[in-house]
Amino acid sequence: MIERRRFLYGTALLLGSCRRRLTAGADAGLCKGSVTAAAVGTAPATVKAAVRVINQLNVGSVTRFVDRLPIPPVLRPDGTRPDPEAPAETISYFRVPMREITAKVHRDLPPTRVWTYAGRFPGPTFETRSGKGLLVEWVNELPDRHFLPIDHNLCGAGADRAEVRTVVHVHGARVPPESDGHPESWYAPGGSAVHHYPNRQDAATLWYHDHAMGIERLNQYAGLFGMFLIRDEVEDALRLPAGEYELPIVLCDRTLDVNGQLVYPTSANPNSPWVPEVYGDAVLANGKLFPYLEVQPRLYRFRLVNASNARFLQLTLSNGRPMHLIGTDQGFVAAPTPLQGLVLAPAERADLLVDFSASAGQNVTLKSISDLVQFRVAPARGAVKASAILPAVLRPVPRTPAADAVKTRFLTLNHYETARTRKMWMLLNGARWQDPVTERPQFGTTEIWELANLTEDSHPIHLHLVRFQILERQPFNADLYTLRGTLSFGGPPEPPLPQDAGWKDTVRVDPNFVTRIIVKFDSHKGRYLWHCHILEHAANEMMRPFEIVG
Ligand code: C2O
Ligand code: CU
Ligand code: CU
Repeated sequence: MIERRRFLYGTALLLGSCRRRLTAGADAGLCKGSVTAAAVGTAPATVKAAVRVINQLNVGSVTRFVDRLPIPPVLRPDGTRPDPEAPAETISYFRVPMREITAKVHRDLPPTRVWTYAGRFPGPTFETRSGKGLLVEWVNELPDRHFLPIDHNLCGAGADRAEVRTVVHVHGARVPPESDGHPESWYAPGGSAVHHYPNRQDAATLWYHDHAMGIERLNQYAGLFGMFLIRDEVEDALRLPAGEYELPIVLCDRTLDVNGQLVYPTSANPNSPWVPEVYGDAVLANGKLFPYLEVQPRLYRFRLVNASNARFLQLTLSNGRPMHLIGTDQGFVAAPTPLQGLVLAPAERADLLVDFSASAGQNVTLKSISDLVQFRVAPARGAVKASAILPAVLRPVPRTPAADAVKTRFLTLNHYETARTRKMWMLLNGARWQDPVTERPQFGTTEIWELANLTEDSHPIHLHLVRFQILERQPFNADLYTLRGTLSFGGPPEPPLPQDAGWKDTVRVDPNFVTRIIVKFDSHKGRYLWHCHILEHAANEMMRPFEIVG
C-alpha cells in the first residue's frame, strides 16, 4: 500500500500554514518572503530523531573571522589537443585528477579529510569564453573505499559495484550527451573520461560536480565541486568589477565532528542508511568556516553558488543594504535588480554586485542561518572614487511567448512511502529512474513543462543541457489532485519573482503550486536527465531521463 508522505517539521508552528509556500520576497516576514522549514534548514522531526551524530562540533563555540576567505585558483591548461569538431584546429586541454587530501576549514580545527578536484577544496575555477571549447580529462585517483555511508539499496549503488565511482557533470553546460557526465557513465579509481565542452552559450556562472549514480550526494558532500565561468563580449562591454574585485563564493553546509571531520548522517537502520535530506550547521564559504576578507570601499562582483546537498540559503547583508542581482543560473538579467535578500536553492547561482562605498571602515557580514563571510571594508582614503559603476542595463532577456510551445507536459512531483515497510521514494511523475523514457521532446521545438508539486517540500528541479524561463506559478489543491486526480486552482498564476525572471536551469518548485517553465530544446539531440537537486531526493528516484529526438 502506498500513501502520500507528510513530513512533520519542527518549525511548523512558527511558520504556520505559510511554511508550505516558499517565496523569495525582499522582506523576510512570515507570509510573503517566508521560507519553508527546509529553507531555514530544520530537518524534519522524523529524520532528526533518526540521525545520531557522535561528537558533533558545536559550531557556535568556533571563533569567527580568523581565516581569510580563500579564492579558488583559475585552472591553467595542460596543453592543447585537436578540436573534436574541427581536428585541424587545437583547443585547450586540462587534466584534472580527483584526489583525497586534508584541508583546513578553520584555524582551530584539525585538518579535514576531503575529496577534491586537483587537490583543491572547492575545486579550481574553469574560465573560458563563449564559443571557446575545451577538453577536460577527469581522472579518478581517489582511494578504493568510500569514507561516507553508501546505501546499497539505492538504484545504481548495489554492493556488486565498485564502492568509489565518479563522473563529472558541468551544471548548466550545453554539451553533447557523451560529455554531459551521465550518472551511469562512472569510472572507478584508475579510470578517467575525456569530456568536450563546446561552450556555445552566453556568459554565465556554471559549476561542475560529481554525478555518479547512487552516490553523488556522498561524493559532493566529500568535496567534489567547483566553478565554471563562461565570459563573452556582452560581459566585457559592461566593465563590471574584475580581477580582485570579482569573487567566486561557493557555499555549502556541512556537519563536522569535534575533530573537524565531515559527518554524513545516517538513518537508524544500518542496512539502509539513506536519509531524506541533509542539513549541517557549519556553512562553508570557499571551504572555510566563518572566513573574513579585506575589501575596498567600492563596488564588488560576487558569483555565488549554493553547493549544499539540501539547504536553501537565505542570504542577506548585515548592514541591511541591498545586493544588486545581475545574473541568474544561465547569465545576465535584463537590468540590475536590488534585493534585500535572496533565497538560493541547492544548485542555483546568483551573480551579484555589492557596493561597499558607503561602508568605509565598517564590517559587513554576508549571512544566512549564521554568519558566512565578514567583509572588512577599508577606511576611505580621501574621496571614495567609484572605479566601477552599476550599469543601467545588462543584456536583453526577451520573454519566450507561451504561444511558441508546441507541447505542454503536466508532470507531478511525488513522495511515496509504503505503509508496511516505511520504504520511501521521491518520484517525478510517478516514475523511477529505470522506467522507460517518457519525455521525448523534438529537437528544435519549445515546450511548456508544468511541474505540479504534490509533496510538502520545495524542490529545486534542474534540467540538464537547456536554459529555460519561468512563466508563472499557480496555486492548486494538491490533496484533491492526489485523491481524485482533479486539478483545481486556488488562485490566478503569479509571475516569477525578480530573482527568477532571467535565464534559469534550476527552478524552485514550491508545494501546492504548479510551476510552469518554457524550454527550447535546440542545442543537441540525445539522452539527458532532469532531477531534483536536493541530492538525497535525486538519489532516491527523483531523477529521470529525457531524450531530445528528431
Ligand atoms: Cu547539478 Cu544533474 O546536476
Ligand atoms: Cu546539470
Ligand atoms: Cu526534491
